[in-house]
Amino acid sequence: MNLKLLYPASWKDYELLDSGGFEKLERFGNVILIRPEPQAIWERVLTEGEWLKQAHAHFHREQKDNFRFAEEIKGGWKKLKAVPDSWHVKYHHPSFEVNLRLALTGFGHVGIFPEQGENWNFIHDTVTSWNSNKSRVLNLFAYTGAASVVARAAGAEVTHVDASRPGLNWANQNMQLNHLTDIRWVYEDALKFVKREVKRGNKYNGIIMDPPPYGRGPEGEKWTLQEKLNELVFHASQLLEQKNSFFILSMYAAGLSPLVGMNVVKTHFDVADPECGEFFLKSSMGRDLPMGTFLRFSR
Ligand SMILES: C[S@@+](CC[C@H](N)C(=O)[O-])C[C@H]1O[C@@H](n2cnc3c(N)ncnc32)[C@H](O)[C@@H]1O
Repeated sequence: MNLKLLYPASWKDYELLDSGGFEKLERFGNVILIRPEPQAIWERVLTEGEWLKQAHAHFHREQKDNFRFAEEIKGGWKKLKAVPDSWHVKYHHPSFEVNLRLALTGFGHVGIFPEQGENWNFIHDTVTSWNSNKSRVLNLFAYTGAASVVARAAGAEVTHVDASRPGLNWANQNMQLNHLTDIRWVYEDALKFVKREVKRGNKYNGIIMDPPPYGRGPEGEKWTLQEKLNELVFHASQLLEQKNSFFILSMYAAGLSPLVGMNVVKTHFDVADPECGEFFLKSSMGRDLPMGTFLRFSR
């Protein structure tokens, strides 16, 4: 089995400075943040005082119960030093770089999931290896569009689907920040869109999906990963080209093993040995953080 533990090694603008005490201390460019991290059940290496001295802002949880999923963490930011309303970071890879806009959001998110850098490398390297200016990439649950921007920068035509208008707006800003154009923005429920694309007979060379544990489509369509993922992957499998194609599934739902994604994908794709495993963030202090599972293949 092709099981891996991967972390994005080429970030200069992102650093996990420490973790522990149900929190993480991270640097995004020049901005240092303390955010909740339900899995960090161990003790910090640096003292809490040292964290507070370094940090520009601290996201406080309001509720401790049932905070297994990032989406369920409610709370607010306490600014400890001046923080800009939004700022930019650069993601570097030996063969490309992209700029991404960050901001403090009400959910404690900042607009990127840094561990996804590993997928951005895969997307860029796979799309450029095809040497085609006609490849098509579909990004589902696409959030602020980092993967869409990477795929577009690599030369693909990109369709970006999300159920959040502010998210689509943010992704558009990320596209413009990178002097790119013509990403197709789709404000729709991901499953509904995929079913419609199957009916229309459309095909894609790349499909990326980063589904949350729970979500809502624009018309209130209920998304629950455990109930709907198998159906979504089944329909998505009918959209993917047989050759010159890739598929990426990321999952941050606590408790799901990489083998869950492996079994769902093997059910619907004729692919012998996909790469699967866990993403993690490497801590400068040695307490690395698990950041969910991934499954991907190219063929
Ligand atoms: C980026 S994913 C979650 C990322 C990460 N895996 C996590 O759990 O924190 C969340 C995105 O999915 C979108 N979303 C949620 N439900 C959706 C649905 N039914 N159809 C399309 N997009 C949806 C949200 O708007 C959001 O941008």
